[in-house]
This record gives sequence, C-alpha cells and structure tokens, in this order.
Amino acid sequence: MTDPILEVRDLEISFFSGKKRTPRTDGVRFSLYPGEILCLVGESGCGKSVTALSILGLLGDAGRITGGEILFDGQDLVRLPEKELDRVRGNEISMIFQDIMYSMNPVFRIGDQLTEGMRKHLHMARPEAEQRAVELLRKTGIREPEKAMRAYPHQLSGGMRQRAMIAMAVACRPRILIADEPTTALDATIQLQIMALLRRLRDEENTAVLLITHDIGVVAEMADRVVVMYAGQCVEDGTAESVLTAPRHPYTRALMRAVPTLNMDRSERLYSIPGQVPEDYHALSGCRFRDRCPNGQRCAGKPVWLDLGGGHRAYCAPDLADGRDQDG
Ligand SMILES: Nc1ncnc2c1ncn2[C@@H]1O[C@H](COP(=O)(O)OP(=O)(O)O)[C@@H](O)[C@H]1O
Ligand SMILES: [Mg+2]
Repeated sequence: MTDPILEVRDLEISFFSGKKRTPRTDGVRFSLYPGEILCLVGESGCGKSVTALSILGLLGDAGRITGGEILFDGQDLVRLPEKELDRVRGNEISMIFQDIMYSMNPVFRIGDQLTEGMRKHLHMARPEAEQRAVELLRKTGIREPEKAMRAYPHQLSGGMRQRAMIAMAVACRPRILIADEPTTALDATIQLQIMALLRRLRDEENTAVLLITHDIGVVAEMADRVVVMYAGQCVEDGTAESVLTAPRHPYTRALMRAVPTLNMDRSERLYSIPGQVPEDYHALSGCRFRDRCPNGQRCAGKPVWLDLGGGHRAYCAPDLADGRDQDG
C-alpha cells in the first residue's frame, strides 16, 4: 500500500479564553491516502470543522493545537513556520468551506479570485490562467463561464457560488481537498451534482478528498473509508463497506438508524438519537457517549480501541457482548 499523504496523530485542539483552556478535540487520529475519499462523520458540535481548520492552521486567535501531529508527506504542519504553511495552504491542500462567503472576497470578481491563485502558485501568465479558469468553471457545470468570470460573488446564486468555490479550491491542482459540509445549504439536485464533481476530481487528478458531513447518507454515497467522530474524539474507523455493514460502536449504529430508507413507511417517524452532544464533553471521564448510549450500560471505564480486522476499529468497552443495542 502507498504511504498516506496526510496523517493526523493524537490531535488535541484547545480554545482559550483568558487563562481558561477548553480542549475541543483529543486523540483524533486518521490517515488519508492519495486518490481516496475519506468521510469524517458525526453530529453537529463533534469537532469536525475545527479538525479541518487546524490542518490548514486556520483556528483563529483563540484556537491552538495543544497536542499531536499533522503529517503532510511526512512533514509536521503543526511545527511549520507560517510562511511555509502559507505555501501549502491553497496550493497543495485546499478547502471548500461550510460557509461559502467565508472564502470569497465580496469586492473581487470571480475571475480575478480564480486566476490570482494560479498566477501566484502555478506561475501562470494572465491569459493562460484565464483560460484555465473558464475551463474549470465549465467543468463544475456553470453554463456561461465567461459571464461568471465577470460576476461578483453576490451576483451568483448559492449553487453557482458553491461551484465557483470548488473551481477555486481545485485551481492549483491541490493534492488534498478538504470539503466541509460543501452541500448543506444547497438543494438536492445541486447536492448530487457537486458530489459527482468531487468524485470526478478524485478519479481524474487522484486528489485525496477529506469530506466532512453529518449525513451518513452522503457517507454511503461517497466514502472509500470513514472516520466517525463523537464529542471531540474518533470513535470508529474503517473501510466504508466494513463500517456501514458492520458498525461496532453504538454511536455509529445510532447514526445509521437515523437515515431515511426508500422502503420506509411515510407515516413512520425517522429515528433521531435522543439528547445532544454535551457542550462540556472534555470534562467527562469514561465513555463520552454513555448517557445517550442505547446499550444502557453507562460504561464508566475508559473505552479501548478494539481491532475488528481489516483496518476496522472502534473505541468502545470490550466487554459489551458484541456491542448489540439492547433495543435493536
Ligand atoms: N472559534 C471557536 N471558539 C471556541 N469554541 C469553538 C470555536 N469553534 C468551534 N468551537 C467549539 O468546538 C466544538 C466543535 O465544533 P465544530 O468543529 O464546529 O463541530 P462540527 O463541525 O462537528 O459541527 C464545539 O463545542 C464548538 O462550540
Ligand atoms: Mg462543522
């Protein structure tokens, strides 16, 4: 097997307010391989976005990586000087943000924003960059790319803006594309098109894609491998096939029960996991999911990594009889 292009090891991210430190992730670990789509899945507030932002050093003033390593091609991004990180950012690793407007400058035309990165990172002359920009916009499904080039972000619809942002994110042929809930705000048809676009990118350019979602349906559609996060920790990972057909962690099982299925009676209410992710999860000892766990065991002991074979692992109590939910 080839080496991973990105290895996140025991990542701990904390936010600071005065002297108070609040850890928001700990022990997050996963590997991303060239040409694969790895899905990071978990409910809102589990730490998916902060994990993604930390890879690019974008945690802001209050956030800091307080432990662990992020190896890109074997080089630790956590310890990389800002100037070198800037070269990696947007060039070798790029990101599609959850909040579209976040990554676009409202006062510059789409065309200028698209060509700027190519001129800077790929050293292209303006005409060459402009030609590639038009091609990229067309590839994302924008019908009149020349017109879109002249538009300001606010002049485009949400779907068009998202396509333009994808074009921007891939313009410099990144080796890793991080997409943080890239379709949450879009309607179903556009969602499908954007997902198809991400897959084509992986196929054609061998780009490694880290796709973040709260939607296990997206995981089933897209993922080669899956990392499940709960309350700032990884709780299960493995190939999509293995995790989706034989989930071991009660949290993964609960997420899967919360997916609507085609043969579901319309009057049936969709299962949702009772309760929510606790805000102060860093202060919990033992299993962080225990108060919501359908097993009803309220495991007080520290979970352990269970090796389920074929690279499939779950962070759970070993003594739960094969982890079956009591009520399901
Ligand atoms: N800038 C920030 N300052 C303080 N806390 C933050 C900040 N950003 C995120 N958090 C906290 O980190 C936790 C994880 O958030 P996030 O990564 O956005 O979750 P997800 O993307 O899985 O929904 C949440 O408790 C959130 O409130
Ligand atoms: Mg998020």
